[in-house]
Amino acid sequence: MQKLGIIGTNWITQQFVDAARESKSFDLTHVYSRSEEKGRDFANQSKKPDISVSTDLNSFFASDDFDTVYIASPNALHFEQAKQALQSGKNVIVEKPSFSNVEEFNEIEKVVKETGMFLFEAARHIHEDSFQKVHDFIDKYQSHLSGASLSYMKYSSRYDQVLAGEEPNIFSLKFSGGALYDLGVYPIYDAVVWFGKPDSVNYQAEIIQTGVDGSGVATLKYPDFDVNILFGKTKNSSMISEIYFGKETLQLDNAGTIRQITAVSGDDQLEIPSTANDNPMVDEAMAFAEIIKNHDTKKFETLFNYAKIVNETLFKLRETAGIKFTAD
Ligand SMILES: NC(=O)c1ccc[n+]([C@@H]2O[C@H](COP(=O)([O-])OP(=O)(O)OC[C@H]3O[C@@H](n4cnc5c(N)ncnc54)[C@H](OP(=O)(O)O)[C@@H]3O)[C@@H](O)[C@H]2O)c1
Repeated sequence: MQKLGIIGTNWITQQFVDAARESKSFDLTHVYSRSEEKGRDFANQSKKPDISVSTDLNSFFASDDFDTVYIASPNALHFEQAKQALQSGKNVIVEKPSFSNVEEFNEIEKVVKETGMFLFEAARHIHEDSFQKVHDFIDKYQSHLSGASLSYMKYSSRYDQVLAGEEPNIFSLKFSGGALYDLGVYPIYDAVVWFGKPDSVNYQAEIIQTGVDGSGVATLKYPDFDVNILFGKTKNSSMISEIYFGKETLQLDNAGTIRQITAVSGDDQLEIPSTANDNPMVDEAMAFAEIIKNHDTKKFETLFNYAKIVNETLFKLRETAGIKFTAD
């Protein structure tokens, strides 16, 4: 197992550490937290005696007791933390969305090339079997492909804080928050991996009182069809997602965590089976560990290129909606 350091002590980091342990891919050895107490509490949950805790980023990165860092801090902090990690000789797994804008991504790309380290964006769903099943179906019926409507909308408990007059990180321009740079990342990844880089994009955003988008509708234009995407964090939706192939339609229960895939043709319906782990981060943890272990630069470049196109697409969408982050 490869040794893992972590930044950010919220539930998502625990889920990744659990996935890493379950898949025997990474072993937690070092925790960074701004608070010694929070860091120690997080380390204690692993019930292992030998986990270091740092409250200073320089000493954290100077430590040689881990080779890969998982970064799950607020979005706007990813850039500086990932850059420092790469320059300290660590591989990086950075939570989605990796970086706030194209300038940051380009700078990171330069540092990746200079250091020869790996950097992965944790877009967990693209590593799942269900995602690959959809990809295979699209490849098979590519010539009939005629568009898609994707949806991922879930009310965030942190929106209650916004309604109470607060500004949690995920709804803040200062921390590069909002619906597009959170749940929107999943369907944008769907479109980029399944259909490629769009020719042009447009985003109609519903701006909330903190200045970020609470929800919205994005359109990605391809030469022969459009992909319409609905996402949001201020309301709940159970709308299915659909990919169109003329007379046939592929239905997905959800664009971010695909658990049911149905091919529909007239009155006929065919379930396409797929397997899934209870912990949705197991597949990505295994994929990243394999690439590092085998120094698989080809697979790394494929994933890095997806991350680059997603970053550019998110940025262009944001521009069309006039949303400016503090990081820009
Ligand atoms: N893949 C997924 O399914 C998934 C799910 C949820 C979130 N995410 C991603 O994970 C990342 C973290 O999201 P989150 O909702 O957990 O964020 P968050 O609660 O705002 O912050 C995460 C951690 O960062 C540290 N932190 C918080 N505010 C900070 C500040 N002002 N300055 C420095 N550090 C701060 C805290 O750790 P300490 O107090 O210990 O320093 C906190 O536990 C985001 O990029 C998000 O998009 C991914």
